[in-house]
Amino acid sequence: MCRESPFLRARSQVLKKLKGKTGSKIVVFVLRELNLLRRLVPVEKDKARSMALHFYAFMKNEVIQGNPRLDSSEQQRLRSHYPLISKLSHYPPEIAATIYSSRRSHAIKAILDTELPYVFDAGCGYGSESFLFAGLGAKVLAVDMSAEQIRIARKRQYYYEEHFEKPLDITFTVADLDEYKPDTNNVSLTWLASVLAAVRNQNKFLETTCEATRPKGQVMITDMNLFNPLFLFKEWSRRQQTKKSNLEFARKSDFWSMIRRRGRTGARYLTGNNARSFDDVQFFSSRSLSDLLDDTGFVPKFVDFSGFVPPQLWKMGLDHLENVFSRLPFLRQFGYFYLVAAIKQ
Ligand SMILES: C[S@@+](CC[C@H](N)C(=O)[O-])C[C@H]1O[C@@H](n2cnc3c(N)ncnc32)[C@H](O)[C@@H]1O
Repeated sequence: MCRESPFLRARSQVLKKLKGKTGSKIVVFVLRELNLLRRLVPVEKDKARSMALHFYAFMKNEVIQGNPRLDSSEQQRLRSHYPLISKLSHYPPEIAATIYSSRRSHAIKAILDTELPYVFDAGCGYGSESFLFAGLGAKVLAVDMSAEQIRIARKRQYYYEEHFEKPLDITFTVADLDEYKPDTNNVSLTWLASVLAAVRNQNKFLETTCEATRPKGQVMITDMNLFNPLFLFKEWSRRQQTKKSNLEFARKSDFWSMIRRRGRTGARYLTGNNARSFDDVQFFSSRSLSDLLDDTGFVPKFVDFSGFVPPQLWKMGLDHLENVFSRLPFLRQFGYFYLVAAIKQ
């Protein structure tokens, strides 16, 4: 059983105070609704979430305190990969932990529910999720095009083997996902975190991934959401800024064709006449991504969203709204992050 959270304790105190007072019916109704929404969180998912939180706390310690196997420049690179962990003054630490764990909990549950789990961590970066998945007992194929990140990931592995007190079955490989074909058709879960947008031929990559997946195997993709107004604005202004310095981009850019994913298959990398390159990455909304998964052999299964409550509201103690918003029909699709899961029939 879960312990009663501070939110639930506070809620019952408020309810007691309001009891019988005129004009308080609406407040009572809203508070009841909030509680009802909280009950919709399945316990199993809570368990997976707490495992993710536990892993996050360990990784955070590694990033901040240092991994004795990394030299200072390697440690610095790892820190800059995790700005939300490193810049503690900017963000309440619970935001990063909550968002991290809510996005990873689905993968954890899928791994725990699968016999002989085999995970393809595509675009694994410094390998953090590969350690998490292998720690849960999965065999992991971890691929990234950055030789430097893979080198550091290999060095980090010992630290996580000590933590999990067992060898981790991870094969780290340097490769470009646009060219790479996994040498298996037995993958049970492909994990893509903040990667697909950077792939040049997303259709081909997902078709290849589907071929590598066993029947009933899954793909889970998480990234920033084009339906989120704040992210949309940031991406639009990044492009407006680049137009000033990159003439090729200014000529070829078409923000709306990126939004609708019309006339393009994925990311484009443009080098300007002044040698300033620009990553014309192809982001998604959960809808456009579900359509693409449908076209490439997968059947979309569910969508989850996170990143609703800005840091200012967290600091005011309104963090429970994150849970509420992620369950509100319609409004939930505007979260900063989506996670789309699809299955191979
Ligand atoms: C934002 S990082 C995310 C890393 C990791 N998935 C995570 O969540 O921490 C994106 C990663 O994708 C890798 N990447 C981008 N395009 C790639 C490609 N075409 N092939 C292989 N890796 C790629 C980058 O090298 C980088 O490590």
